[in-house]
Amino acid sequence: VSVAEVCVVPALAGQGGYPVRIGPGATGTLPGDLPAWAPAHAYALVSDEHVMPLHGVALAERLRSRGLRVETFEIRAGEEHKTRAEWGRLTDALLARGIGRDSAVLALGGGVVGDLAGFVAATYMRGVPVIQIPTTLLAMVDASVGGKTGVDTPAGKNLVGAFHAPVAVVADTDLLASLSAAHLRAGLAEALKHGLVADTGYLHRTEAEMGRLLAADAEALAALVLRSVEIKAGVVGRDPHERGERRMLNFGHTLGHALETVTGYAIQHGHAVALGMVLEAQVGEWLGVTRPGTAARVGTLVRSAGLPYRLPEGLDPERLLAATKHDKKARRGLVEYALLRGPGEADPGESGRWSRPVPDHVVLAVLETAGSATPSGESDS
Ligand SMILES: NC(=O)c1ccc[n+]([C@@H]2O[C@H](COP(=O)([O-])OP(=O)(O)OC[C@H]3O[C@@H](n4cnc5c(N)ncnc54)[C@H](O)[C@@H]3O)[C@@H](O)[C@H]2O)c1
Ligand SMILES: [Zn+2]
Repeated sequence: VSVAEVCVVPALAGQGGYPVRIGPGATGTLPGDLPAWAPAHAYALVSDEHVMPLHGVALAERLRSRGLRVETFEIRAGEEHKTRAEWGRLTDALLARGIGRDSAVLALGGGVVGDLAGFVAATYMRGVPVIQIPTTLLAMVDASVGGKTGVDTPAGKNLVGAFHAPVAVVADTDLLASLSAAHLRAGLAEALKHGLVADTGYLHRTEAEMGRLLAADAEALAALVLRSVEIKAGVVGRDPHERGERRMLNFGHTLGHALETVTGYAIQHGHAVALGMVLEAQVGEWLGVTRPGTAARVGTLVRSAGLPYRLPEGLDPERLLAATKHDKKARRGLVEYALLRGPGEADPGESGRWSRPVPDHVVLAVLETAGSATPSGESDS
C-alpha cells in the first residue's frame, strides 16, 4: 500500500485547493511538507489526552528534531468537551505561550480535536492556517475534509462554528492501529453514508470487505479512506458552503444529532448516524421519496458493520423529535432532512435544495414503529 493524494478544489473564486494525503506512513514527510504548506514561526500541535501520549509526543519530537518550533496543547477527550469553554481555554493557552499571528495549528486527533482545534484556528488572531491530521477512521473518511469547524452548545450539536478549510490533510492509516473497535465501526458508518448517497459500487465493495475492515486490515482501511475522501472532496469542492449539494452528506444526521443530544452523548457520533440513516430511510419511504426496500437495505448494511439499527429501549419519540428542532437544518419551523432516492443515490429534493422539510407526524410515525426496523428476514438477537 502506498500513499495516495486527493485534491480538494473549491468551486469558489479566490479559494485554492488543498491536498489530502492518504495511506500508511503518510505523516512521515510532514517535517518537510509543513514549512511549504504553512510557513510559520511556531506550530501549535493540539491533541487530546488519549492521542497526545500515543502519537502526539512522538510527532512533536520528530518535527522539533528538524528544527521546527512546536508547542503542544492537550485537551480533554470526548464530545462533552467540544465546547465554547474548551475553545476559550485552548485560546488562552495559545496566547499564554506566545503563539503569534505567524503560527499554524496542527489538529492531531479524532473529529472532536479536528472541529475544536479547527475552530480555534479559524478565530485565533482572526484566523491562522490549520493542518488536519486525523487519527480516527471517522475523522479520516469524513470530518477532516471540507473545512467545517465548530463546537456544541447545550441546545445542540455544532451550533457555533466557522468554515475554515485546512491547508492540507494528512491521513496516516498506520495511526489507526491503536483505535478501539467501537471507534473503527463509527468510522464505517460515515463511509457507508458516502456509498449510500453517491456510489453503489463503493457500497458493494465495502460490504464485501466488511470482514477485513472490522479486523482493521491496513490495506482495506486505506482503500476505504481513499474512496470516501474522493467522494467527499467532489461534493464539498462543488458546494463548499453547503448551499445545496453538500446537504446530501447530512443523510442520517438530523435524527443522528438528536440521538446524540438526548442521550447526552452517551452514543458515539458514528453510531448515532448509523441509526439515523436507518430511520431517515424510513422517513423517505413514508414520504414516497425513497424507493421501498431501501430502509431494509440500509439496516442490513449498518448491522453488518456492528452498528445500531434500532432505537434504544425507553427513548421517548417526542423528546427525540423536539431535539431535532434545534438542528441547523431547520427552516421556517419545519426540520429539513437529507434523504435518499435509493441505495447509492441521494434525493436532490426540489429546486436544488438536496433536502426536504418533513412534517412532525411522519417523523413520529417512523419513531413509534422503529422497533420494527429489523432488516427483513433477520431476527434481532
Ligand atoms: N467537521 C466535519 O465535517 C465533521 C464530520 C463528521 C463528524 N464530525 C465530528 O466529529 C466528532 C466525532 O469524531 P470521532 O468519532 O473521531 O470522535 P473523537 O474525536 O471523540 O475520538 C474518539 C475517541 O478515540 C480516541 N482516539 C482518537 N484517535 C485515536 C487513535 N489513533 N488511537 C486510540 N484512540 C484514539 C479519542 O481520544 C477519543 O477518545 C463529532 O463531534 C462530530 O460532530 C465533524
Ligand atoms: Zn457525521
